[in-house]
Amino acid sequence: MNGHGPFPDLVVKPVAPGDEERLRRFFGRLSDQTVYRRFFTLFPAPPPAVLGHLLDGGGRDHESLAVLDGEEIVAVAGWDRVVGDEESAEISVLVEDAWQHHGLGRALIRMLTADAARRGIIVITATILSENGPARRLATGLARPERVEMEGPATYFTFRLAS
Ligand SMILES: CC(C)(COP(=O)(O)OP(=O)(O)OC[C@H]1O[C@@H](n2cnc3c(N)ncnc32)[C@H](O)[C@@H]1OP(=O)(O)O)[C@@H](O)C(=O)NCCC(=O)NCCS
Repeated sequence: MNGHGPFPDLVVKPVAPGDEERLRRFFGRLSDQTVYRRFFTLFPAPPPAVLGHLLDGGGRDHESLAVLDGEEIVAVAGWDRVVGDEESAEISVLVEDAWQHHGLGRALIRMLTADAARRGIIVITATILSENGPARRLATGLARPERVEMEGPATYFTFRLAS
């Protein structure tokens, strides 16, 4: 991305307040399955809290990245520091349907974990629906989880970053 690697035409950048309209268009292109797998619920349009969190520019305790193909966002991903646990962050990735299975998710997780590590994060968590084979394979293909806990329909993965 950003002129290098397997996606030379894609640009990755922090989500910024000016991205609201293209973020809404991105959400409008997602299938129900993709929305459900990320948010564990369906919605006709992104709820204000979801948009607001993505658009707030990030900070010490979270980061949101957008991948752009020209003017359009094709993926967003981020991490949030776990409240009350300075050294842990929950990671999430959302790739639009037409771009899934091309390696974007993997590239984004690599970037996010490197950024999180620079901000003092040593433990990464991910909550993935147990039926979500692609996300489970992506997570466990990148690193061996330290803990795997099933909770209702979801599986909660914990990874410790190499020091
Ligand atoms: C889960 C998700 C983030 C994965 O993103 P992605 O960009 O499709 O992920 P990748 O392409 O890096 O890897 C996924 C698959 O593509 C394969 N792949 C990776 N690089 C590839 C390449 N260059 N060519 C073909 N396939 C490739 C991976 O091996 C993996 O195989 P799978 O089909 O057995 O799952 C995406 O499907 C998504 O947004 N899903 C909906 C939301 C969600 O589930 N989020 C996760 C919970 S937060």
